[in-house]
Amino acid sequence: MLRFSHPLRRDGLRGLIFLAITAASSTVWAQTSPAAKVDPLVDSLTLRQKIGQLQQSNAEPKTIADISDELRAAIREGRVGSFLNVPNPEVANELQRIAMTESEAKIPLVFARDVIHGYRTIFPTPLGQAATWNPELVEKGARVAAVEASSMGIRWTFAPMIDISRDSRWGRITESFGEDPYLTSVLAVASVRGYQGKEGDPTSIAATAKHFVGYGAAEGGRDYNVTYIPEPLLHNVYLPPFKAAVDAGVMSIMTAFNDLNGVPASGNDYIIDRVLRREFGYNGVIVSDWDSVLELIPHGFAEDKKQAARIAFNAGMDVEMVSTTFQENLFSLLDGGKVSESELNAKVSRIIDMKRKLGLFEQPYVSGDPEKAILTDEHKALAEQAALESLVLLKNDKQVLPLARGKTVALIGPLAHAAHDQLGSWVLDAKKQDSVTVLDAFRKILPESKLLYSQAMYSSRSRETDFSQVLELARKADVIVFVGGEEAVLSGEAHSRADTRLPGTQELLVRELKKTGKPLVAVLMAGRPLALNDVISEMDALVMAWHPGSMGGPAIARLLMGDAEPVGRLPVTWPKVTGQLPLYYNRPSSGRPAEEGNFTQMDDFPLEAFQHSTGHKNHYIDIGFKPQFPFGFGLSYSNAVYSDLKLSKKTIGVNDTLEVSAKIRNSGKRPVTETVQLYIRDLVASSVRPVRELKNFQRVTLKPGEAKVVKFKLTKDDLAFYNQQLNWVVEPGEFHVWIAPNAEEGLQGQFTVR
Ligand code: BGC
Repeated sequence: MLRFSHPLRRDGLRGLIFLAITAASSTVWAQTSPAAKVDPLVDSLTLRQKIGQLQQSNAEPKTIADISDELRAAIREGRVGSFLNVPNPEVANELQRIAMTESEAKIPLVFARDVIHGYRTIFPTPLGQAATWNPELVEKGARVAAVEASSMGIRWTFAPMIDISRDSRWGRITESFGEDPYLTSVLAVASVRGYQGKEGDPTSIAATAKHFVGYGAAEGGRDYNVTYIPEPLLHNVYLPPFKAAVDAGVMSIMTAFNDLNGVPASGNDYIIDRVLRREFGYNGVIVSDWDSVLELIPHGFAEDKKQAARIAFNAGMDVEMVSTTFQENLFSLLDGGKVSESELNAKVSRIIDMKRKLGLFEQPYVSGDPEKAILTDEHKALAEQAALESLVLLKNDKQVLPLARGKTVALIGPLAHAAHDQLGSWVLDAKKQDSVTVLDAFRKILPESKLLYSQAMYSSRSRETDFSQVLELARKADVIVFVGGEEAVLSGEAHSRADTRLPGTQELLVRELKKTGKPLVAVLMAGRPLALNDVISEMDALVMAWHPGSMGGPAIARLLMGDAEPVGRLPVTWPKVTGQLPLYYNRPSSGRPAEEGNFTQMDDFPLEAFQHSTGHKNHYIDIGFKPQFPFGFGLSYSNAVYSDLKLSKKTIGVNDTLEVSAKIRNSGKRPVTETVQLYIRDLVASSVRPVRELKNFQRVTLKPGEAKVVKFKLTKDDLAFYNQQLNWVVEPGEFHVWIAPNAEEGLQGQFTVR
C-alpha cells in the first residue's frame, strides 16, 4: 500500500490543531533560522575563497586543450565553487585536479547539469512519469539517471521540478508532476531519494527541488510571467511539495525566475528566509536560477548589480548561477556593512557540507566507468517500463484496442518515427540513435506485408494539405494508427503555447484519415494535454504517450498489440479547449456551481432560449465547465468495478483515525491495474474549500474476476488546511469522502468531525 506522510506533517503539526477558528496569529510555525553551523574549514579561507564558493560558472570546454588560462587561474585562486555543463569526465577531472592540487583552499569543485528525466537512457518526461502514479518507478528512474550522470562526473542535478502546474499553455508543465500537491509531493520524495541514493556513495547526486516558488502559476501560462498567489493558496497548494522534498533531505533548492506577489523569487526574503529556512527548517544549499540574481535589474527590483547582489545575498541565496554579481560586489558590500561575514560563513558552510555529503573530499575525481554505467540493458528495460506505465488510454470505442492480430496496420504521422522528438524537452546528453521509435518497434512485431508507414507531414507543425498519397496507403490497411502531437520543441522552457490544439494541419489529417472508414487509433506524444474538442470524435481510440523517452516505441507497440495493459492515469485535468485554462480539479467551490445539464452547445440555442437558459452558473456558455477528461482518469482493457464503500465511523474526533474502504472487482477478461484514489471535501469551513482534494492512492492489480478490498486511513493531517490566518487547522463539521477511479466519479460517503 502506498502511504506517504503529508509533506507538512512530520513535525507532529507543531501542536497547531484548532478545533475552532482561533484568534489570528500571523504565520504557521514558530520561527527561528536553523542554527548556522560553521564548517571548520571556513575559518581557514580568505574572503575571496569564501566568495568563490558561492559562484557557479557555466563552462563548456570540450577538451582539456580548450580549458583557458583564465579558467585555470579562476580555479587556482578559488573564484569558483561549482560548474554547470562541463561536458566530459576528462575535463571535469582536470578542472578538479587544479582545485585539489593547485589551489590553496583545496575544496573540491562540484559539477552540475540538468539531468531531468534521464542522462543517456531517457525516461518519459516528468509529466509522463507522473502519469504512472508509481513512486517506486519514479525513484528507480532517478537512480538510473544518477548512476549514468555520475559516471560522467556530474554530481548535482537540477531536478525534480515540482512546480504545481494548472495551466497547460505553460511549456514547462512537461517538466512537472502535474497539478496536484499530494501527487507531486509523493513523486518529489521518490525522485529526491532516487537521485541522492546513499550519502557518500559515488553514484549519489545532489537533487534540486525547483523552482521556488510559484513559477507554474505564471499568468496566462506565459513563461517567466508574473505570479500572484495569495498566502493560503501558497501554503495549501504550492509549498507542500517543497516541504516534502525538504523532509526527504533534498540537498539543494533553486529559486525561480518569476516574481511572486510583486517580489522576484530570487530576491524574496519572505519565501527564502522566512518560509524555507525558518518555517521548513531547511539547511541545505539555495541556488539561483540561471542569471536570476542579475535579472533583479530588468525586474526593476534592483538598480544595479551591487544592489542585486545585496538583495539576493540578504534574502538567503547561497549560490549564484552564471551571473557574477556576488563575485563582483561582495567585497565592497562586506566592507560597507551591507552584508555580514557571518552570513557568508554560513553560506559557505552549507556548500561545503553538500560537498562532504557527496563524498567529494574523499573522492573528488570521476571514478565510474561510463561504458558500464550508461544505456545498460537494465536501464533500457526500466525506461521501457516507465514509458509503458505512463501511457494513458483515454478513449477506446468499440474496443478497437488492443489491435486484432493478423490485420494490416497503417502507421501514419509525424511522430511515428521521430527518434529525437519522442525524447521531449531537456535531454542535453541524449542521442537520437539510442531511441527506439514506434515504427522500429512495429517492424519487429509485424510481418512486412502487414505494416504500412507514412510520415504524412514533414513535422508536427507543418502545414501540408495534400494527403492523397497517405490516404491511398491508409485505405489498404485494416486499421490506422496515427502518431502525432507535439514535437519536442513545442514544450519546455520558454515554449509556452497560446493555442494548445494539435499543431500544423494534423486536425485536417485526422479528419481525412477518418473519412477512409477505417478504425482510427490516435497515439499522441506531447508535452501537455492537447485541446482536442474539434477532433476527438474522429478518434476511435486515443492513447496519451507524453514524450515517452528512448524506449517509447516498444512500450507503445506492446500496449497497442495487447501485450501489456494500460495503467497510466492523468496527472492533470485535460481541457476541451485552450480557453478553459487554467483548469484543475481541486478548484474552490463556487457560489453558483455549474451542474451537468444546465448547458447545451451555444450554437444549438434559439436566441430567446439562449438568453434565458444559460443558467447563470459557473460555466462557459460555449463549452460548459467539464474538462475533456478529469484528473486521475485512465481506461484499461478490462473493467474495475467499485462497490461496498465502508467508513469505520460516522463521527470522529479530531484525533481519531477514520478507516475508509471499498471493494474493487475486475469484471473484465483481462488483468487490470487500478489506481484507486481517495478524495475528500470539507463541506463548510472558514475558507472556501476545494470541491475535492486527493489525499492518497493505491495501485491494485487484479486478475479477471478477482476482487480486493482497498483500505485507507484518514487522519487529522488529511483533514487540516491553512486557514486565512495561516494556521494549520481542522474545522469540525461534515466531510465527504470518495474512493474513486478519478476526480469526477467514485463512491461517495459522508462523516462528521466533532
Ligand atoms: C532553468 C532551470 C535550469 C537552469 C540551468 C534555467 O534556464 O530555468 O530549470 O536548471 O536553466 O540550466
